[in-house]
Amino acid sequence: MGTYKINCIGVLTSGGDAPGMNAAIRSVTRTAIFNNIRVKAIYRGYKGLILDEIKEFQTQDVSNIIQHGGTILKTARCQEFETPEGRKQAYETMQREEIDALVVIGGDGTLTGARLFAQEFNVPIIGIPGTIDNDLWGTDSTIGYDTALNTIMQCVDKIRDTATSHERLFFVEVMGRDAGFLALNSAIAAGAEAAVIPERQTSVEELEDLMRNGIRKSKNSSIVLVAEGGGGAQGLADRIRQNFPNYDVRVSILGHLQRGGSPSAFDRILASCMGVAAVDALLDEQRSVMIGVVNNEIVHVPFAKAIKDDKQVRPEKISVLQILSI
Ligand code: F6P
Repeated sequence: MGTYKINCIGVLTSGGDAPGMNAAIRSVTRTAIFNNIRVKAIYRGYKGLILDEIKEFQTQDVSNIIQHGGTILKTARCQEFETPEGRKQAYETMQREEIDALVVIGGDGTLTGARLFAQEFNVPIIGIPGTIDNDLWGTDSTIGYDTALNTIMQCVDKIRDTATSHERLFFVEVMGRDAGFLALNSAIAAGAEAAVIPERQTSVEELEDLMRNGIRKSKNSSIVLVAEGGGGAQGLADRIRQNFPNYDVRVSILGHLQRGGSPSAFDRILASCMGVAAVDALLDEQRSVMIGVVNNEIVHVPFAKAIKDDKQVRPEKISVLQILSI
């Protein structure tokens, strides 16, 4: 599109919701208004862009939302936007609504869609990483990850009470899609005995060995965190039950409660800073980049890199868990 003045920014949330998305919406809205730019809120992610579910926001439209989980804009995983026709319709809506640029808040799928859309129609788009999975490359943390981590930790603390009383072995399954950040770090935070994560192939034999020689020797209750992409807690539990009939095994799948709740201070601050940075980036003529924070500094990560899917768990974290679970 070349250099031209941005008069109106559209903001949307898409994909799985994450605590802190509201803080990001508030930040984008107020930073735009602060810079004399109009803001249009797009409802239900790309779906609302296709169907023209749009409302202009004033500063008071984002009052009293920073403390709430979920997203006031609603969210959706939109299949139509995966088609060229869907994206064309979305572009037509932008023209009709006189939206010059977009700030999209979401995860991997959201940025993948944004990348294509920007390429096809030359639309200025900035991404803000909002997902509990923390699986975007180029940022130390995504919005919602810290809150979800704390929620899981609190749940595991509670499970620990009953596990200890009954001397049971618990497999607790957590979200994260194909990433093990939530499982590994919540295992460390809650003092769990092990974590089964997709990034590191833990064979069932290895786990059995751990049971036999490790954790069950010194303790009579134990908790293993299992990432949903790491094989599933139920299957693992069944296998352990079969081979260790003396263990009293239980499974707990935490599910969507991990995605809700009031965002932590960390996520609110992260979202607020990223929202300001996103509007600044647009004004600075940055295009097709995701805002990240690395070592406390704002960075701009090209979409193609952010969605590369190879953000690694830190190997030393695996050692920390192993050492501390003896
Ligand atoms: O990406 C966030 C996430 O919560 C993943 O951890 C999980 O695999 C997925 O979304 C669940 O999606 P849905 O809410 O559509 O069932």
